[in-house]
Amino acid sequence: MFYATADRDRTKLPHDPFKAIVAPRPIGWISTRALDGRINLAPYSFFNGFSSAPPIVGFSSEGRKDSACFARESGEFVANLATQDLRGPMNETSAPFPRGYNEFVRAGLTMAKCRLVAAPRVAESPAALECKVVDVVEIKSASGALTGAVLTLGEVVGFHIDERFLLDGRFDTARAHPLARCGYQDYAVVEEVFAMARPKGGGDV
Ligand SMILES: Cc1cc2nc3c(=O)[nH]c(=O)nc-3n(C[C@H](O)[C@H](O)[C@H](O)COP(=O)(O)O)c2cc1C
Repeated sequence: MFYATADRDRTKLPHDPFKAIVAPRPIGWISTRALDGRINLAPYSFFNGFSSAPPIVGFSSEGRKDSACFARESGEFVANLATQDLRGPMNETSAPFPRGYNEFVRAGLTMAKCRLVAAPRVAESPAALECKVVDVVEIKSASGALTGAVLTLGEVVGFHIDERFLLDGRFDTARAHPLARCGYQDYAVVEEVFAMARPKGGGDV
């Protein structure tokens, strides 16, 4: 089948398949600290890495949610790794609490101090990336209209890694069981990885 986005047949496809196709998406579990000290934690699956040297990650907020506002005003955020073991607390932190409500407390999570940013990280998470905001992009549609989504990009200036997840000098992704978001109410978990070397001869990165 094919359909132009605006013409989806809602009998055949009652739910938008977009997020089920752009899947699985890593979850950036974003912690921030506002300038007045309010703490925030929420999951974002419009999240990814965009560059490796320097490492850059970004998350997109559909509407000006607390994470985007606090990151913009403080210039900092932390991307914590959401894992299968932490799926319950991760989901709790997505509830629509009033601005400035500390979701760490609600979800029973421990705030650990960061080294290079003022926001706390999730102590229970196997990895966390301390980030400094490098760009805030107001996302536009093809017509040039603002969509209301805001992409916050940050340079990773510090890494926290729980050393129990290191194996032969590598971060053991499969052992950490990262959670990923699919469409509808679905999630995926990484439990297995395989290696495949790239072909030789390319001149790219
Ligand atoms: C797994 C998961 C992924 C989510 N991803 C996004 C996202 O990419 N963008 C977004 O705007 N909201 C996303 N949400 C919803 C936000 O987490 C939710 O609106 C939250 O209340 C925002 O909190 P904040 O205002 O404290 O930042 C997601 C929710 C869950 C459970």
